[in-house]
Amino acid sequence: MVVTASMAVMGWLSVVMVVGSPVLHKVGGSKGWINHDVNYTEWSAQEHVYVGDWLMFMFDKRYFNVLEVNKTSYESCIDRDFITNVTRGGRDVVQMTEGRTYYYLSGGGHCFHGMKVAVPVQQHPSLAPSPSMFFSSSLLPSVMCSCIWIIVANVVYLVNLVIRC
Ligand SMILES: *[C@@H]1O[C@H](CO)[C@@H](O)[C@H](O)[C@H]1NC(C)=O
Ligand SMILES: *[C@@H]1O[C@H](CO)[C@@H](O)[C@H](O)[C@H]1NC(C)=O
Ligand SMILES: *[C@@H]1O[C@H](CO)[C@@H](O)[C@H](O)[C@H]1NC(C)=O
Repeated sequence: MVVTASMAVMGWLSVVMVVGSPVLHKVGGSKGWINHDVNYTEWSAQEHVYVGDWLMFMFDKRYFNVLEVNKTSYESCIDRDFITNVTRGGRDVVQMTEGRTYYYLSGGGHCFHGMKVAVPVQQHPSLAPSPSMFFSSSLLPSVMCSCIWIIVANVVYLVNLVIRC
């Protein structure tokens, strides 16, 4: 029974490891959300953000804010008619719920000084099966095997319980 239980745990762990758990990305790294010193294009290029991850904006709310805008507004630094106002206390988080590019800027002219960021968000390879993707074709079978193992392990466990009763 102990063996069965540990096999179930191992199966579960391999699923978790493949799918991954949400990551918190501090926008701009340790410098945060500020109107100098950080090139957010470079910052974003070396981050790998997946659906379910969170972005954290750290800033002085007396001067700056965080607004989600569309691509056009991002490119031209338009802070009118934004999509969402992420601004709260200056240590603000927002979850990436879709596989697309998210655009943020700081209004009040700071966008023109570089306070804008485009964050491409990818689906987890194992959650977005697509024949053209190397990852999904190689990882999916292992996820499915793990699931089958969990089911088998649980059935064996239940059968053991029934036999004991
Ligand atoms: C940020 O870095 C990118 C790529 O290195 C560069 O093209 C861009 O001009 C830089 N932006 C600023 C505001 O320096
Ligand atoms: C982007 O947002 C601006 C401001 O709300 C709006 O005028 C514009 O039509 C939008 N562009 C697209 C492509 O949705
Ligand atoms: C965004 O929300 C904050 C906090 O609720 C508020 O103080 C600020 O005025 C809002 N900014 C805009 C541009 O609506």
